[in-house]
Amino acid sequence: IPRVLSGIQPTAESFHLGNYLGALRQWVAMQDTHDAFYCVVDLHAITAGHDPEALVRRRRASAAQLLAIGLDPDRCTLFVQSQVPEHTQLSWVLGAITGFGEASRMTQFKDKSAKQERASVGLFTYPILQAADILLYDTDEVPVGEDQRQHLELTRDLAGRFNKTFGKTFRLPKPHIVKDTAKICDLQDPTAKMSKSNSVPAGIVDLRDTPKAAAKKIRSAVTDTGREIVFDEENKPGIANLLTIFSVLAGVTIPELEARYQGKGYGDFKGDLADVVVEAIAPIARRTEEYLADPAQLDKLLTEGARKARAVATATLADVYDKVGFAQPV
Ligand code: TYM
Repeated sequence: IPRVLSGIQPTAESFHLGNYLGALRQWVAMQDTHDAFYCVVDLHAITAGHDPEALVRRRRASAAQLLAIGLDPDRCTLFVQSQVPEHTQLSWVLGAITGFGEASRMTQFKDKSAKQERASVGLFTYPILQAADILLYDTDEVPVGEDQRQHLELTRDLAGRFNKTFGKTFRLPKPHIVKDTAKICDLQDPTAKMSKSNSVPAGIVDLRDTPKAAAKKIRSAVTDTGREIVFDEENKPGIANLLTIFSVLAGVTIPELEARYQGKGYGDFKGDLADVVVEAIAPIARRTEEYLADPAQLDKLLTEGARKARAVATATLADVYDKVGFAQPV
């Protein structure tokens, strides 16, 4: 049974519809077809700034949301990165085989560092830690959105280089990117991706939004000139994005939606989509609050997940340490 691993940053109080449609829905589906490892990557999160109290809160909020969308600790290993020290340890080894120029080509680093006043070395080495996350678990597939493709290419390059230098150690992981939902766009700027760090609040639907707030954001989404509801990414990116969201959440094909709304206006369409979105996220928000009501239980569950993850991670790291000539951890 193939192995899957993916991660998500606990950088906000809520995940958004882009995270959900681009990645998290696949996480849920792959629990049943794969040996699944899912990680809340808090080590990565500190490259976006420091707020210890928020980090504790968001770690739990992340776990609660992942359970609320349907991850089941009996069918997957759900854990927090900082509880598994092998991620950092492998990251160091991989850092020593990563070229400075190679790391400098990462477009996410270039984008993010351009926006920060003092970009940290941690932000620069971020993709190397991500490679360690993946390679520790002999991962076959990594379900992510389009924005992670370059990091996965780096991961494969590093795995191949390590294997060539030290002998076969790592499996080469493949990205699992679902084309239709790989880039969900900002509701206020449909040429940009929906993003926690870049979008204005009205551009993002959060999984923990109230029904009223979510409906309002959909109804005020920027649409294009003209009045036809057709899928045309080039000329009608706003409508195309809304059609994608509608199609996936309602389980209806885009041609069916185009037929259904032929001769109707944007207002009707957005009103119906608002209902569909609310129906999808309201139960997630409700279940999230239920899980958050018992933080001790959440922590316990994550610790159990970390124990399962470490059983795999320590074995990989021991092999890596042997191969590079390190003494074993005691
Ligand atoms: P993060 O936390 O930014 O996002 C989590 C997942 O959501 C996807 N995503 C989107 N998909 C479609 N449309 C969007 N607008 C959109 N916005 C976000 C992301 O592609 C991602 O799959 N570096 C990673 C976290 C990470 C990781 C890993 C992922 C750390 N280690 C190991 C996979 C494997 C990140 O920042 O994701």
